Amino acid sequence: MNDTPLALPTLMGERTRLREWRPEDVAVVQEASGDSLIPLVTTVPRTRGEAEALSFIGRQHDRLKSGAGYAFAIADLEDRAVGHIGLFFAAGARASVGYWIASSHRRRGYARDALVTVTAWAIRLQQLDRVELYIEPGNHGSLRVAAQAGYKREALLRAWMRIDGRPRDMYMYSKLTERALTSSDRS
Ligand SMILES: CC(C)(COP(=O)(O)OP(=O)(O)OC[C@H]1O[C@@H](n2cnc3c(N)ncnc32)[C@H](O)[C@@H]1OP(=O)(O)O)[C@@H](O)C(=O)NCCC(=O)NCCS
Repeated sequence: MNDTPLALPTLMGERTRLREWRPEDVAVVQEASGDSLIPLVTTVPRTRGEAEALSFIGRQHDRLKSGAGYAFAIADLEDRAVGHIGLFFAAGARASVGYWIASSHRRRGYARDALVTVTAWAIRLQQLDRVELYIEPGNHGSLRVAAQAGYKREALLRAWMRIDGRPRDMYMYSKLTERALTSSDRS
């Protein structure tokens, strides 16, 4: 955990550019509001109103200001926003990553590239020992993305999260940071 304001880097992947959220990205947030899952598991608003979508964008900057974590817009190589990826700090030198791609931009390798890119950066952060993902067993796209980015499945967490009022199981995936891998306690 950290309450010092953070500075968001711009990270380049092979297919994506991870950069700050901007007001002109509002349409992709509005599209995500219409998704059957994204508004249930993220802070994307459930309605497609422009004001609500702009508030979502403002909240991503607040996460940086409060030190809660890094929230990136996933942009394509022409700098058009297609989705979101965030690294959020937890207690114990841990952070979790969450991501989504708006439905009209899926199946183009954007989620895989964004997760590979953010992970390569995150595992060099000195304050972290591990980076985690939480994925529902039926989310085949996200399970594939996690495996492609080199995460290891550790456990099935029963009734880990309520989604739409119902307790849901989640797989926890992790990747250790360079600091944890080279620590003398682990050798
Ligand atoms: C899951 C999600 C992020 C995938 O985004 P995406 O950009 O379409 O994924 P990619 O194009 O990078 O695909 C990576 C791999 O997963 C596969 N994949 C993607 N969606 C899939 C699906 N629904 N079912 C099965 N495989 C899928 C792709 O074919 C690709 O594998 P391949 O390289 O062997 O062909 C996107 O569907 C989404 O935002 N879903 C709703 C929100 C969500 O589930 N977020 C994750 C919460 S843990």
